[in-house]
Amino acid sequence: MDPAELTGVDKNLTRYGDTEFSRYMRRAFLSSAGYDADDLNRPIIGIADTSSDYTTCHRDMPALLEGVRRGITQAGGLALAFPTISLAETQLSPTSMLFRNLMAMGTEEMIRSQPMDGVVLLGGCDKTVPAQLMAAVSAGVPAISLVTGAMRTGSWHGDRLGACTDCRRYWLRHRAGEIDREEIGEIEQALCPTGGTCMVMGTASTMACITATLGLMLPGGATPLSGSADRLRQAVMTGRRIVELARDGQSPDRFLTGASFNNAAIVLAALGGSTNAVIHLIAIARRAGVELTLEDLHDAARETPVLVNCKPVGTGYMEDFHKAGGLPVLWKALQSRLNLDAMNVNGLALGEMLKDTPAPAGWQDNIGTLEHPIGPPGALVVLRGTLAPDGALIKRAAAASDLQRHRGPAAVFESPDDVAARIDDPVLGLTPDHVLVMRNAGPVAMGMPEAGSLPIPAYLAKKDVVDMVRVSDARMSGTAYGTVVLHCCPEAAVGGPLALVRDGDLIELDVAQRRLDLCVSEEELTRRKTSHVPPPSPERGWRRLYAEHVLPAHLGADLDFL
Ligand code: FES
Repeated sequence: MDPAELTGVDKNLTRYGDTEFSRYMRRAFLSSAGYDADDLNRPIIGIADTSSDYTTCHRDMPALLEGVRRGITQAGGLALAFPTISLAETQLSPTSMLFRNLMAMGTEEMIRSQPMDGVVLLGGCDKTVPAQLMAAVSAGVPAISLVTGAMRTGSWHGDRLGACTDCRRYWLRHRAGEIDREEIGEIEQALCPTGGTCMVMGTASTMACITATLGLMLPGGATPLSGSADRLRQAVMTGRRIVELARDGQSPDRFLTGASFNNAAIVLAALGGSTNAVIHLIAIARRAGVELTLEDLHDAARETPVLVNCKPVGTGYMEDFHKAGGLPVLWKALQSRLNLDAMNVNGLALGEMLKDTPAPAGWQDNIGTLEHPIGPPGALVVLRGTLAPDGALIKRAAAASDLQRHRGPAAVFESPDDVAARIDDPVLGLTPDHVLVMRNAGPVAMGMPEAGSLPIPAYLAKKDVVDMVRVSDARMSGTAYGTVVLHCCPEAAVGGPLALVRDGDLIELDVAQRRLDLCVSEEELTRRKTSHVPPPSPERGWRRLYAEHVLPAHLGADLDFL
């Protein structure tokens, strides 16, 4: 039999040069775990487990894993959990994004190499879900994503708190001198009161909603909170369903079509979702062989108003969105815009799923309608201009309206470390009109950290300045806000125009016209280019491989050979 047609325990045999010996050895070692012939004749379902003491967002994952295991067994499968790299957003230096592709490669190879008829991808924290989707698409094995879900909100002095939009809000007040060391210590203890992912519409929540919209998660799986009964029920249902999917051999490419990506782009806009999702969606689409560009995402945002009231764009939290009906109700509100033929891993087309889904209830204000949206269209805007010929991104919905047309002198920082060292130095003489420019933070330079929302200089924050125009080749957290231009392409490390900006150069931002320009003559820029020295490349290991092969942000920042 063709090895590619083998299933269950006979799939992906270890090569000893004797097929029967390979089978015999595999069964012998699996029998050491107590599995008998009945177990080993079942479809094998892998569970990619990203539990880690470092990834506190996945703290409730063990219970979720047991739920999946129960569902798989009930449906007649054999559940085999396996560990993969886990990426904790706040625990990795210089940034988790440097390791997204590493996790994708590792996960893909474990799915591809072990006996596995289907896989449940347990993820949650920002980079884990896109890495797992990229892996599953490339491995071509039936897969369902299941996330840990968001945290509950905390509270401090009666104020409701959510990571990490409120982390940033209070930190700004601390820098402005309004909140002292002891108080910020109390807030630190209250920001993350339970297991789960950030409870605003940050990257984790955005990617959960996008995964379900792409069809690779059960429809109710995006919004139940971590540790809740709803979340555990999702786990059991996912376990049951993956066995059926594996029996039918339905791999992710069946669900990942132009229609599903188009729907995902519309949902991203309606969520007022994370700018990071733009990079991840493009990377996943490229793996699936679907054409999806920055312009497609801009166009979807231009046509779609914000319908979800969730921070940082709105005022609510994920638990409010879930109580209002969550993602299916949002789909219902967007029904006239979505392609209803897109399929979900539950076996139903979107249109069928929405037949019994209620429209947003008029009495609550957490999910709007196209007629009565939460915010105007255009939450995400793709900019172009002499400072970003290949594109840049701004989350207009989270930016100050009076700064969206702005011309000001540049104050240039060479890296995130340079920002940390000098931003508060009064010698710089920064004013609210300055445009804060940071470079050498793109994919090639350092994996693209979430450093793009540079802090407001403390001496300006103390004068109640809460926003300034900031421009960089970095990313920003999906939970952050401000007039922040991100993902400038090409990045400075490969000689993009950002590398040529000097202190005092005028920079012009015009969001309505989609422009970001460096007001310096072509001749002067050509002259500066001759003296530009790129930063040194990493010497060894993953960082070197990454720097040599990573694609630019506007192409998804995947590795060029993947
Ligand atoms: Fe894990 Fe925000 S830090 S989701």
